[in-house]
Amino acid sequence: MLEKIDELLVEVVDFNTSDKEKIEQFRIRFNGKKGILNDFFEKFKDVPNEQKKEFGQKINALKQAVNLKLDELKNADSSSISSEKGDLTKPGFPLELGSRHPINLVKNKIIDIFKSIGFAVADGPEIEDDLHNFTALNLPEYHPARDMQDTFYIETNPDILLRTHTSSVQIRYMENHQPPIRILAPGRVFRNEAISSRSHCIFHQIEGLYIDENVSFADLKQSIQFFTTELFGKSKIRMRPSYFPFTEPSAEVDVYWGLNSETDYKITKGTGWLEIMGCGMIDPAVLQNVNIDAEKYSGYAFGMGIERIVMLLYQMGDIRMFFENDVRMLEQFKTV
Ligand code: DAH
Repeated sequence: MLEKIDELLVEVVDFNTSDKEKIEQFRIRFNGKKGILNDFFEKFKDVPNEQKKEFGQKINALKQAVNLKLDELKNADSSSISSEKGDLTKPGFPLELGSRHPINLVKNKIIDIFKSIGFAVADGPEIEDDLHNFTALNLPEYHPARDMQDTFYIETNPDILLRTHTSSVQIRYMENHQPPIRILAPGRVFRNEAISSRSHCIFHQIEGLYIDENVSFADLKQSIQFFTTELFGKSKIRMRPSYFPFTEPSAEVDVYWGLNSETDYKITKGTGWLEIMGCGMIDPAVLQNVNIDAEKYSGYAFGMGIERIVMLLYQMGDIRMFFENDVRMLEQFKTV
């Protein structure tokens, strides 16, 4: 038995590894509950008295050697980690810079353009009520124009819905402010348009609202022309009569894109014209709904889908790309 302890002592002293699993196996083999050391301590009582002293000394020496070895290997382990990773006090590798989502890039561009002519940004909730999304905008219950916006309602309360357009922010802002008012309301809107796999039930709009004394249709046209010139570098626009319940008269704005390339033919369907937004003069009924004197004040409003503008600006072919979060697409906007 004493010889066996000597052999083990040599084995312990010679043991060397940086493998964590092997170190743990070594610890269990010697120091574990059913390990070699406990086994020897158990056997101690059966050792003849005259050998007890030497036996005791040897197993204590073995125990010390085992603990020393474990300390040594553990320290070596942590120092090898620090040497593997180099100087831990050095600054880290620079994180790669991300890029803004094209929708936000274009939203910010549009905001900058209108800011330069005095517009400020206003905000409103995405979960709206019927009053702000429809009724106060001159779209009372059963108005057929509600059908143009396939709406998500909350089953337990038909008064609550996901806003279908950013025009609801007009109402919220006018409730709390008297003219002059000049705001932009960008944000997400929701429509149940999953009928086509190309469309998505979430998209983005940006709304404009300007109310003051003597605001005319000419002001509206001029502001929009300024906008298309700044954003697209194109100043030729036309306004086609249209219908929105909250504006009278209402118009759809087309910008003349030109027919200089095959893409131009494709995206304009051979006409050279592209529709970019809806607009009009605020219907006096809307002003009355929010207690603004419709005799004294007039104003204009416009609303456009941001996705469409992004697709035109960057010639993107598929609207679904905006929501896939594919970094290969997003990375292309790093330098924009
Ligand atoms: N809210 C309209 C829509 O979502 C867009 C719109 C048209 C907004 C004309 C306006 C406007 O402010 O004057 O289809």
